[in-house]
Amino acid sequence: MLNFHIITLFPESISAYLSSSILGRAQKNKKISVSFYNPRDYTDDPHRRVDSIPYGGGPGMVLEPVSFLKAAQAAAGRKRNVEFIFFTPSGRQFDNKIAQEYADKATNSKNFHMIMLCGRYEGIDARVPEILNAKPFSIGPYVLSGGELPAAVLVDAISRRLPGVLGDDLSIEERRVASSKVYTRPETLKWKGKEYKVPEVLKSGNHKKIELWRKENSKY
Ligand code: ADE
Repeated sequence: MLNFHIITLFPESISAYLSSSILGRAQKNKKISVSFYNPRDYTDDPHRRVDSIPYGGGPGMVLEPVSFLKAAQAAAGRKRNVEFIFFTPSGRQFDNKIAQEYADKATNSKNFHMIMLCGRYEGIDARVPEILNAKPFSIGPYVLSGGELPAAVLVDAISRRLPGVLGDDLSIEERRVASSKVYTRPETLKWKGKEYKVPEVLKSGNHKKIELWRKENSKY
C-alpha cells in the first residue's frame, strides 16, 4: 500500500477531493491511504500559532520549524520506506516520469510512505526540509497560496499509476485522456439555433479510421 501523510494547516481544503471518485475507491480498496497531520496540534503556543516574522525582515510570515518537525515525526514514527517531500515553486518540476517512479517504489515494497509538507504564507523555516532531507517539488510555473493543491496533484498523479487503481489498464486510460476531443449523445446537438454534429468517422465502426482520427485530433 502507498501511504500518503499530508502535513497541513488546512486539511479540509483537499480532503473532499482525495476521498472522491477514483482516489476514494483506491482508499477503500487499500491501494492507498491518506492521513492528515495539523502542525497546530503539535505547538505549545496557547493560541496554537505556528507562524512568526522572518529573520532578516521582509513581508509576510514564516512557519515555525518545531510544530512541522513534530507533525512530521508523528507521521514517520518508526516506519521504514519513508520519503519526505515539500512544495515550492522553485522545486523540481513534477511530471509523469516522477509519478511513475514513486508508483514503482510503492509497488515494490509492502508499505511505502510519502510524507508531504505543505507550506503557507512565505513558506516553512528552511531548516525543516534540511533536517528531514525532504525533496522540493513544483507542480508548474505559477505561484499558488500553499502546498495543499500540489499535494493533491501528486497523490492523484501517482495513485492512478498503481496496479489495480484504474478500472482500465493505465496505457488505455492515458491514450483516452490524450485524445482530448470526446463526444457522447446526442448525435446532433441543437444549441441556440445552431446544430453541432458528432464527427461522422466516430460513428463509422471502422476502428482503424477512428484510431487515425483520434491521433490527428489529439489536441484542441
Ligand atoms: N507553492 C506555491 N506555488 C507552488 C507551485 N507552483 N508548485 C509547488 N508548490 C507551490
